[in-house]
Amino acid sequence: MQVDGVPLRTIWPVAGARAVDIIDQTVLPHVFRVRRLGRLEDAAEAIRSMQVRGAPLIGVTAAYGLALALDGCAGDETLLAAVQLLAATRPTAVNLHWALARMQSRLLPLPPAARAAAAWSEAAKIADEDVEQCRRIGAHGLQLLLAGRRGEARLEIMTHCNAGWLATVDHGTALAPVYAAFDAGIDIHVWVSETRPRNQGLLTAWELRQHGVPHTVIADNAAGLLLMRGGIDAVIVGADRIAANGDVANKVGTCLKALAARAAGVPFLVAAPGSTIDFASADGASIPIEERAGDELRLLRGCDAAGLPGELRQLPATAAVANPAFDITPAQLVDRIISERGCCAADRLRTLYPEEADG
Ligand code: MRU
Repeated sequence: MQVDGVPLRTIWPVAGARAVDIIDQTVLPHVFRVRRLGRLEDAAEAIRSMQVRGAPLIGVTAAYGLALALDGCAGDETLLAAVQLLAATRPTAVNLHWALARMQSRLLPLPPAARAAAAWSEAAKIADEDVEQCRRIGAHGLQLLLAGRRGEARLEIMTHCNAGWLATVDHGTALAPVYAAFDAGIDIHVWVSETRPRNQGLLTAWELRQHGVPHTVIADNAAGLLLMRGGIDAVIVGADRIAANGDVANKVGTCLKALAARAAGVPFLVAAPGSTIDFASADGASIPIEERAGDELRLLRGCDAAGLPGELRQLPATAAVANPAFDITPAQLVDRIISERGCCAADRLRTLYPEEADG
């Protein structure tokens, strides 16, 4: 993807330094700022504070976090303590645990002196694979969209949260088919829901604008009306974890969109790479749902009239709030899952991943 015309990924190793640069998503869309992560703790904090966010990008950041941890002493104790620290940053996105498990099984058998270099190269490999998988999701998703297209009419897509370029290393998951369509010259427009309380929809709007894709931001609560009115061809969202039975954990508010889409007869599609599918979780009930700080609801973040970033209080500090960050959409409300291997019914994931033994 490009920012102001410059091709960029969301995370990249710094040439000649044992560090990685990231795009700080806590200040977007108001400010574009690159942050340097030089220590394991920086990587853990970047994930925890959502400077990086989105399941695939969280996984890649964790992999680089391990590489940062292994500079110098790379004994078993250091490695396992780093894995533990990173694993505790966020609970729902399974890509975090997938990436840590892959790094651990690559590194543990090596002699300590060989681990740091291997960690950097494995993390880079995971990042490159993520880019290719997302590109493939885009190609498969585009075929699906074209199959359901009404003649030459403009494709109208609705999405929730940010499952775009910013949530991955490049291309995105839910937005990959949108970019593929736009780049192929297909007339497409995206309805972007704001995604309270952290407003990841504004990140989606920012990246669609960078790419020139026509889009409109809506309040989360407007989605039902738009779907029931007709004229939306598909809802496409990403996922933070997909259980073996096809239940989907994604940003809170996803399930309401799936219910409205089903009532309106609009296809509800979930795009995610294999690293988001957790065959060890039998169903959605076994997926941990992150409960985030109440201040995400009590305070509003934005810019003042002069363009300076700041916070506005909308509830007293003592107001009781609940802030579950994800919800579970049952498999029966998901029309298709789109992965790097193709498309399938949500309850038929093993048709795409036959190597996963039945649990
Ligand atoms: O809390 P976040 O912003 O890290 O959550 C990300 C999401 O839930 C996105 O909707 C996305 O679909 C999953 S990551 C591609």
